[in-house]
Amino acid sequence: MSEITAAHPSSVSPPADGHPSGDDRFELIDKHLRRVHYAQDQLIETLHVAQDVFGYLSEDLLLYVAHALRLPPSMVYGVATFYQLFTFEPPGEHSCTVCTGTACFVKGADDIVAGVAEAHRVSVGQTSDDGRLTLKTARCLGSCGLAPVVVLDGEVLGHQDIDSVLGKVAAAVRGGS
Ligand code: FES
Repeated sequence: MSEITAAHPSSVSPPADGHPSGDDRFELIDKHLRRVHYAQDQLIETLHVAQDVFGYLSEDLLLYVAHALRLPPSMVYGVATFYQLFTFEPPGEHSCTVCTGTACFVKGADDIVAGVAEAHRVSVGQTSDDGRLTLKTARCLGSCGLAPVVVLDGEVLGHQDIDSVLGKVAAAVRGGS
């Protein structure tokens, strides 16, 4: 892990032109941190903001948050990895989330997962080598009446089967972002 040596953010005035890191997205995180007064109990909320801004939590980003909140990096990493809502790899251009809750499972969700994984050579929780597709699973998405449910690029698709999902995923990936 790299070491953060910059002064604590709370002791640094907002820069006149751009964040000192060279990446202005950090200013959005700093703005949130100032709003919550760098409170340590705002860790999870801060991680959400960081993920919303950057799309995923890189190691550098986790260290930045740890430093800003004056928390041990190991604790921040532990909290982040405990929650399935956080992701640590850059997302692919497209994302396919298959619900594997009970109702979806009994209607073949596992076959859908396996089919997409094989067709796109991607493991669950990972992004394909070409960066085109991220495959995830989720516990019940709250739409059991539509089982099995797949969320493709934010669109909820109900009553799916392996062929319909493979077709839709292939079309999305072919069609670009
Ligand atoms: S189990 Fe899949 S939506 Fe409920």
